[in-house]
Amino acid sequence: MRGGVSRRTVLGAAAAGMLMPALGADAPLRTLAASRGKLFGCAAGSYQLKDADFAAALVRETNILVPEYELKRLIVEPEPGRFDFSGADALAGFAANHGMKMRGHTLIWYAANPPWLENKVLHAPDDEILTDFVSRSMGRYRGRFHSWDVVNEAIFPDDGRPDGLRNCAWLKRFGPGYIDLAFHTAKRADPEALLVYNDWGCEGGEAWNDRFRSATLKFLEGAKARGVPIEALGLQGHLNGYGPPIDQKKLRLFLDAVRAMGLAILVTELDVDETKAPLDSAVRDRAVADATARFLDVVLDNPATCAVLTWGLSDRYLHKPDGLRAALSGYSPRKLPLDADLRRKPMWSAISRAFTRSA
Ligand code: G3I
Repeated sequence: MRGGVSRRTVLGAAAAGMLMPALGADAPLRTLAASRGKLFGCAAGSYQLKDADFAAALVRETNILVPEYELKRLIVEPEPGRFDFSGADALAGFAANHGMKMRGHTLIWYAANPPWLENKVLHAPDDEILTDFVSRSMGRYRGRFHSWDVVNEAIFPDDGRPDGLRNCAWLKRFGPGYIDLAFHTAKRADPEALLVYNDWGCEGGEAWNDRFRSATLKFLEGAKARGVPIEALGLQGHLNGYGPPIDQKKLRLFLDAVRAMGLAILVTELDVDETKAPLDSAVRDRAVADATARFLDVVLDNPATCAVLTWGLSDRYLHKPDGLRAALSGYSPRKLPLDADLRRKPMWSAISRAFTRSA
């Protein structure tokens, strides 16, 4: 399977690891990941490729990219039947030119859709409003993408459904089967790509995360039993550096259950929110690194984990939050591995150690 990590690849990587001199502590994250048969990458916007220093950092540190927003329907199909893949094409071209893989995000989501879509979905005479978009987007990059987030954030237990699914327009029109339809369509559109179900509630240690994890396992078990070609779980990994810590035991048990279903695991959108932190950047960087380590130590212990992507590589392109505090204090987010000047931060070191430790 293209996106999965075959036994041969892992053994090869392990052998390479034995033959390869110990990688230096400053080895790029892509190198450390590759020596363990895994991928490290990040989300990016095509506009960022115009920044030569940033582009060089992407090439140095990553071997897989994902468009942060340029493959979402809001950008790709702004009007019915008018398509714009220019941003994703630029990112895919950059990745191909630098020997990097690409992954797609995302095809079927309740958010980031053009204003005209929801009404069209709710009144759709057939399922082409779903299948056409999946087939078109995936068909354009057929055989070239490592994986796709086919469906994003379809689970939301707080909507109160017994199946724990989010009561979005797709579900209202097509029932829970919209997810099955999306994945079967995706499998036909690109049989080689790893098909990922992507979501954000499985990481934390709170009661609502427990509900999210059990709803996710129930959903995945049901889908597998129906023969739905879901091949991997995407853990978004939007962590909180100043919230309740990850419960490593609960996360480990959850990921063991996911692996037992034969699914691969990807961390798809790792970043660490530190907006509640004191202004001292050293304090914030430490909290971000600690949350990263606590999470990745568990995730990378699981052999089913094949990739870790952060939701951006550098703080340089993070949007400053609105509000008086940010304005008065000059606060700017420090959620990512490199700072705004592209210098490696403690979060970078935490990721480096996590890949090394998982040897
Ligand atoms: O469209 C403009 C483009 O013309 C301009 O060149 C560019 C740079 O300024 O900005 C673009 O605007 C917006 C873009 O964010 C800027 O990054 C897009 O209109 C806007 O839709 C987009 O929002 C994204 C959001 O998802 C909705 O798509 C965010 O970047 C992205 O970080 C966020 O990511 C989501 C994941 O997809 C799913 N998981 C949660 C995660 C965080 O919310």
